[in-house]
This record gives sequence, structure tokens and C-alpha cells, in this order.
Amino acid sequence: MIYINGDYVSEKDAVVSIFDRGFLMADAVYEVTAVLDGKMVGFDGHWARLQRSLGELHLACPLTRTELLAIHRELIARNNLTHGGVYVQITRGNPGDRDYIIADMAPTIVLFTQDSPDPINDSDADKGWRVMTAPDLRWRRRDIKSVQLLYPSLVKTEAARQGFDDAWLIEDGAITEGTSNNAYIIKDGVIITRELSHDILHGVTRANLLAYAAERQMKVEIRPFTLTEAKDADEAFVTSASAYVMPVVSIDGHAIGDGKPGSHALNLRKIFIEESIKAAL
Ligand code: PDD
Repeated sequence: MIYINGDYVSEKDAVVSIFDRGFLMADAVYEVTAVLDGKMVGFDGHWARLQRSLGELHLACPLTRTELLAIHRELIARNNLTHGGVYVQITRGNPGDRDYIIADMAPTIVLFTQDSPDPINDSDADKGWRVMTAPDLRWRRRDIKSVQLLYPSLVKTEAARQGFDDAWLIEDGAITEGTSNNAYIIKDGVIITRELSHDILHGVTRANLLAYAAERQMKVEIRPFTLTEAKDADEAFVTSASAYVMPVVSIDGHAIGDGKPGSHALNLRKIFIEESIKAAL
């Protein structure tokens, strides 16, 4: 079942106009909230970021937090979702014609769910990801979670074509982030990850993981790191609502550490999943 503009309908009945600005201009924002054992991880972080993304585009949120939470829950129930995610997209709406100038219009809101394997027994995490690198050619407001995902999608497709699991994007010699996740390295027990700015998406998983790490007195350095540093790191990993904490075992074919998922990264993954189950809504 899909939620669209107030109704729960089947996939074939979930229809959006070709004049919708989400379709013609990527004038839309989205969120993906992880679902673990039928409950949501980090819902309030996603809600806050959705408000921020909408605000940056001068789009009013058509729903309250309580309404959006209820729709998420209803869709999880109707679709019998155990593990996976809920996708929500809000577009500016349908002005009835193609026009660069934005008029007042009613937003379009769509939600659907996606299944994924149980993250506790995810074989990907035992193997870790092999990433390649690519220049970061995205627009300069990556902090806004807009649906303008063409470049990351092209890069991830090329990575898959070459046998990689993902790509890390590079700008001015430093890693910005993965195609759809935040990037980290670990050197001498210190977790290193880039600071929040317009250059990266402010990951909800990142914020929660760093809080769990701080509670455990782990050392964290918030700063950019270069590709050379990454290749020389003891461990590497990424975070996102869909990958949770995923070890990275090689970059451009160069093994990180011993080329196996690192013990810190696997421990952080375990901590993250345990804490998420406790805090899930
Ligand atoms: N992507 N950076 C980018 C560019 C992302 O697209 C994402 C999430 C993240 C991680 O954010 P979070 O921890 O809040 O999921 C970082 C989602 C999962 C997606 O596009 O499917």
C-alpha cells in the first residue's frame, strides 16, 4: 500500500501528475526512516531534518509530526513491514503547467515502504563494502535532502558495474561522503568524520552513532580526511538509515587494515543496532 495525499491506495492507483514539480524540476525533499522489528529508528531526527529541508526550499510542511508519525505506523502495519524503511517524499506540487517561477500550490505527499534483510544477520556487514572513489560533482547544498539524486545514482551504478559496493566522493582532496551515506575512518582508535556543513547530508544515523560513541568515551575527531589518510587508516565505515553502520574494507582496490571488517566498526554497528532497538518508536 502507498500513502498519497491523504489516501492509502494500491501501487497502481498511486498516481502523480506529469506537471508535478517533483517530476519536472526535482522540486521535492525526502526522508528514509529505518524500520527494525516493525519499529522506527530515529524518527525525530528524520522529522527535524525534513522540516529543515522544506524550510530551505521555502516549502511549508503539510503535516504535523503526530500526523506523519501516524501515517508511518499505519503503512508499516498495512504492509506487514518487519525490517526495512519508510520513504516519505514531499514535492512542491502540481502547478498545472511547466514554469520556472514558483507559484503557490498544494504540496504532493507520498509514502511507501521497502523491505530489507534483518540487519542483525546481514551478510554484507560480515563481508564489508568495497568502495571506489569519484569526484563529487553534486550541487553545493547537499545538506538539503532533495530528490535530485542523478549524480549519486550514476556514480553508484558505475561502481556496481565495476564490481564495487559503493563510491566515496572527493572534493578538494578530501572525502565528502558516500553516494548515500556518511563516511568515517578510524586511526589509532580515533573515529574521524567530516564536520556538518553544506557539503554533506547531516545524517541522522551519524548524529545518533556519535552520541552513542561519546557516551562510551570513544575518541572522535570531527574534521575532513583525505583519500591518502583513508587508505592508510586502520578501519573505515559508512552510516545511513539503510546500511546502519557498514564496514568498508577497501578503497579503489586498496585494502584498509587487513582488508576485513574492523573490530571497532563491527562493535559500533552492534552498539547502534542495540541502542536503536531500545529507542525505536
Ligand atoms: N540516504 N549522505 C547522503 C548523501 C545520503 O543520501 C544519506 C541517506 C546519508 C545518511 O543519512 P541518514 O543516516 O540520515 O540515513 C548521508 C538515504 C538512506 C537514501 O537516500 O536512501
